[in-house]
Amino acid sequence: MKKVDINEAMKFRHPEIVVNVVTKSKDGKVDVAPIGWAMLGSSNPETWAIGVAKKHFTHQSIIDTKEFVVCLPSSKQKKDTLYCGFHSAWKEDKLSKTAFKLLSADNISIPIIDESLACFECKLVDQMDTSDHTIFLGEIVASHVSGEKIGLINIGHSQLIEFEQGKKE
Ligand SMILES: Cc1cc2nc3c(=O)[nH]c(=O)nc-3n(C[C@H](O)[C@H](O)[C@H](O)COP(=O)(O)O)c2cc1C
Repeated sequence: MKKVDINEAMKFRHPEIVVNVVTKSKDGKVDVAPIGWAMLGSSNPETWAIGVAKKHFTHQSIIDTKEFVVCLPSSKQKKDTLYCGFHSAWKEDKLSKTAFKLLSADNISIPIIDESLACFECKLVDQMDTSDHTIFLGEIVASHVSGEKIGLINIGHSQLIEFEQGKKE
């Protein structure tokens, strides 16, 4: 082994999950941001933990509304997922530049994204300040699937490749 800079070693951390986090600001602006730092926080109750940079519009909206949606993107959503990952709702209405179709959620005021593999409505139950990010813990209060089976995984440098859900070799 050779001692290297942290960033050099971090190049080997992929593949990484990618989820689309949907939020709504206190003024009602709906936003989507892909998040790779996402994991399950607990199984009873079921929670999602997401790491969101403090500078993101998404961060402010979660602080304000205490709700968010986690959607697992399908292969059909690759282009729009990447668009949302490189543009901020602080600067533009990015959703109008995408083909995302939003549907009403059941238990929270944030919409879900049609044609995702699955979407989870979450209510904020805890948060951890990690300096430039916050880890938000959301309890799942409703979940939805579309029937889409081909998902996306990040193999590095925001290169999203397709995988088939549940496929056995
Ligand atoms: C594949 C991918 C994964 C990302 N993962 C994260 C992440 O884990 N945490 C984060 O804060 N930003 C992440 N980003 C960056 C945000 O999605 C991006 O900065 C977005 O424009 C924020 O939008 P907003 O300001 O409208 O909230 C990721 C972007 C891409 C393309």
